[in-house]
Amino acid sequence: MTALSITGLTTRFGELLILDGVDLEVPFGELHVLMGPNGSGKSTLCHAVMGRPGYLAEGSVKVDGVEVLGKPVEERARVGLFEGFQYPVEVPGVTLRELIGEMAVVGGPVVGKRAERAAEDLDLAPFLDRFVNVGLSGGEKKKSEILQLLSLSPKAAVLDEIDSGLDVDAVRDVAQAVEGMRSDDLGVLVITHYARVLRYLDVDRVHVMMKGRIVRRGGRELADELDAKGYEGLRAELGLEPEESGVDFLEGL
Ligand SMILES: Nc1ncnc2c1ncn2[C@@H]1O[C@H](COP(=O)(O)OP(=O)(O)OP(=O)(O)O)[C@@H](O)[C@H]1O
Ligand SMILES: [Mg+2]
Repeated sequence: MTALSITGLTTRFGELLILDGVDLEVPFGELHVLMGPNGSGKSTLCHAVMGRPGYLAEGSVKVDGVEVLGKPVEERARVGLFEGFQYPVEVPGVTLRELIGEMAVVGGPVVGKRAERAAEDLDLAPFLDRFVNVGLSGGEKKKSEILQLLSLSPKAAVLDEIDSGLDVDAVRDVAQAVEGMRSDDLGVLVITHYARVLRYLDVDRVHVMMKGRIVRRGGRELADELDAKGYEGLRAELGLEPEESGVDFLEGL
């Protein structure tokens, strides 16, 4: 069975086609990476998979064989799906400890135990009694996301830019925490712009997205190739149209 199986995922905002029939499978035990230029649809894919309100999608998203498309977020979470946000939201009035307590209502006391361990590993113990993400630095917010991931122990995790805003040591800590939870019961999809974080991850496959489509797949060497030639280089190689630069718009002013 596959941890995460995305087929023909299509999302529009009004007339705008953002995801154009994305197919992507992450088998149990594997860690895949999704890369792509700004605005190519990576975060939209995460939100559509998780069922964020407003992100209607066609196609199919299966977690361990269970179709989740059309289901509310909490049901997707219950099936075993987790989304780590590119921009974690602040939740004034709710402490991280209370949030974990709510998670434990569904997941049982083991959730609290895992959270305690993760808080220690990630040096987040002092943050347990602070409101979720309120006043936290960018790096602390990302670590808090990882703590929630480790506490829930999902079947499929989509982690949107786990490395953005992190200093070099924090990138290593977060990547090692993700690596540490690798198991045959989990499939992970990591979204990143940089090959740097991949140094600490044992990557099974890399998918490259442009304009809402997967245009290239390969092993971890594809990430290094992209680092060297850039998305423009890949576009030229694939015979794709260059991105609009916005210059025409400026010239019209
Ligand atoms: N709620 C929305 N309404 C309208 N357009 C949206 C909405 N959310 C995203 N978009 C558009 O969809 C496109 C893809 O955005 P998305 O955030 O998925 O890109 P991304 O690949 O994650 O980029 P980045 O690397 O900068 O995070 C962008 O052009 C964005 O403006
Ligand atoms: Mg994004």
